[in-house]
Amino acid sequence: MRLAVTSDIHTDVNGPELLAALVDRARELAPDVLLIIGDIATAPAHYLQTLLALRAVVPRLLVVAGNHDVWTTPEAVAKGLDSWARLDHLLPALAAEAGAELLDRAPVEIDGVAILGSLGWFDFSTREHLLELPMEVYQKGNWGGLRWMDQVRAIWMEGDRRMEAEEVALRLRERLAAQMRACTAKKLVVATHMLAFAGQIHRRDFPEWRFVNAYMGSLGLGELIRSDPRVVLHLAGHTHLHSDLKLGKLRALVTPLGYKREWLGATPREAVHRSMKLLEL
Ligand SMILES: [Fe+2]
Ligand SMILES: [Fe+2]
Repeated sequence: MRLAVTSDIHTDVNGPELLAALVDRARELAPDVLLIIGDIATAPAHYLQTLLALRAVVPRLLVVAGNHDVWTTPEAVAKGLDSWARLDHLLPALAAEAGAELLDRAPVEIDGVAILGSLGWFDFSTREHLLELPMEVYQKGNWGGLRWMDQVRAIWMEGDRRMEAEEVALRLRERLAAQMRACTAKKLVVATHMLAFAGQIHRRDFPEWRFVNAYMGSLGLGELIRSDPRVVLHLAGHTHLHSDLKLGKLRALVTPLGYKREWLGATPREAVHRSMKLLEL
């Protein structure tokens, strides 16, 4: 299987030129499957437009949800559209409308390889202890003028109660575990938007960066992934920085596009060339 992969394309922020470059590159690579690991667009119209454009040039398009894809507003939540409703209903419906598939509940099996996906969520296990902040500060998402927007725009409800990030991370990890248990394939690829391994967290020596690292993922996701020797490849996004790790027999690859100021390359075409990778499985 020829699998093309990238993440964090943020087409609502990056604009039409970037989407055109993604479409061109996907057409050139001619993969069997294109996998976009989250942070596609927040507005449903942009999300759908992006998937339609990409699906037109590849035979199979798989997507994983990103945190920006499940952002909502208190007004929308009052009408029943919290982040769970976006993940479980809106995004799968938009994907289906575009002829794509959202990976979250069940794997897709191609040529004997199962591809499993999950948004995953952060549980502050990637935080840097050097900061010595109490957990409530991370839960609020406000510190020294910084605000982590998922704590504002991702609203996960259980009845009338807003769930804490740790609960969301646990629920999504259990969903992924259930997918893995039910899967009978001999070779698995697991794609999570959130990071799963300590080696994927980029350390920088200033406090703001350390604070933000608390929101990068969950080390429990990594423990789950490594508990199953069938997993040969882990793919992630969310950070807009690249990494490619070897963890025993497991390869863990992060190959995001990110926002314009973060692109590897001066033009949309160059940036897409550096971030969309073609893998043979
Ligand atoms: Fe992103
Ligand atoms: Fe993200």
